[in-house]
Amino acid sequence: MIHHRSAWRNRWTFMLATAGSAIGLGNIWKLPYMIGVNGGSAFVLVFIASILFVGIPLMMTEILLGRRAQRNPLNGMEFLAAEARVSPKWKLLGGMGMLTGLLILSFYSVIGGWVLSFIFDAASGTFTGIEAAQSTSNFKNLLASPFTLLFWHTVFMYLTMGVVARGVNSGLERANNILIPALFAILLILLGYSMSEGDMRSAFHFMFSFDFSKITPVAVLSALGHAFFSLSLGMGAVMVYGSYLQRNVSIARTTIYIALADTMLGLLVGLAIYSLVFANNLAPDAGPGLIFQTLPIAFGHMPAGRLIATLFFMLVAFAAWSSAISLVEPTIAWVVENTKISRKTSTSILGFAVWLLGVSVVLSFNEWQHIKVIFGLNIFETLDKLTSTILLPLGGLLMAIFAGYFMKKYHVQEELNLEDRGFKYWRIANNYIAPVAISAVFLYLFGLVK
Ligand code: PFF
Repeated sequence: MIHHRSAWRNRWTFMLATAGSAIGLGNIWKLPYMIGVNGGSAFVLVFIASILFVGIPLMMTEILLGRRAQRNPLNGMEFLAAEARVSPKWKLLGGMGMLTGLLILSFYSVIGGWVLSFIFDAASGTFTGIEAAQSTSNFKNLLASPFTLLFWHTVFMYLTMGVVARGVNSGLERANNILIPALFAILLILLGYSMSEGDMRSAFHFMFSFDFSKITPVAVLSALGHAFFSLSLGMGAVMVYGSYLQRNVSIARTTIYIALADTMLGLLVGLAIYSLVFANNLAPDAGPGLIFQTLPIAFGHMPAGRLIATLFFMLVAFAAWSSAISLVEPTIAWVVENTKISRKTSTSILGFAVWLLGVSVVLSFNEWQHIKVIFGLNIFETLDKLTSTILLPLGGLLMAIFAGYFMKKYHVQEELNLEDRGFKYWRIANNYIAPVAISAVFLYLFGLVK
């Protein structure tokens, strides 16, 4: 059953929406703390390599699958499998992606809630003149109050589902136009401040000394996983957006712009943050609270800091919001295209289910902190690791294998529409580099290779 499908107005709106999905908490909140937890530059090096050799080619793969299928991920994979005359079971890959998106959203919304609460802290002047110790304890207090976290998690979920219920085209694309460039602009102000007041030299050394001896298997695993998370790959979000993309747009060029903007943004936030971390003697491995503890110090001391901080957290909230929407869009597209349930009803039901799971994430930062699910990880950590290090790379691996080994080569060529050399590069990366890299990491993860 094919319904009337909306389409992006032009390449620019597709690019902004996909960039809107890619740019989010992954860049601003997650990448900086992961760099610290995983030993700095070694992680950065593997992360950049993962973006270049795995992320970019697989983003092309995911867009091409979506555009060829012109359907939601599940029906899309079913359609592509039929076209390639292979087992219809490939549709399970689409189903896995949907589930992954919902699992990610359950904790994404909680962190989005932290950002919302910081908008109000910033606006009310809480950060004015704040010092490191106080900033750290402010954040700890937030984590220790389940009801505050729950309130903001609920608001974030409500905002996300509100947009999804109205459909992908309305409002979002126009907002992306202004807000993503605005986020970059404010980041430059922050970076300027960090350069003059922070310890940029140490930050640079910490992130870019590229000391090969420090690379550990765990860092490789997390860096590869984060490349998927950051580019929104492996779960069908990019595939759905690609399915709304017109035929005449170059997939390769669009992908490269998005990947570069996404990676640059994350690394710039990292530099701004570490230069403050080192200037204030904070711990680089503070974990998920890192930006919430360090940035207020900068905002609290810069001229017009109250205004800039408020704007900054508003923009981060927006970035998180446009990513969150893309986490549910694959599932909603599937429900709308396959059942009689309306967009509004399905969004409410799904929203409630994800919200409920999010409640357990909220509690894992306080009351349920000591409940370990698996390998000594609490609920938040389990959901995070399960999705980023297993489900997203697995989804990416299967998409690469499908496009590389099951689809007709001329269908792929038709979608990518590259000259010979470009196509050859994509093929080497998609058929060999990405599958080998991801499988190697999995083999290690499951203890087969020590
Ligand atoms: N890429 C988003 C971020 O970096 O915050 C997170 C994300 C969105 C991951 C959508 C996966 C996805 F499908």
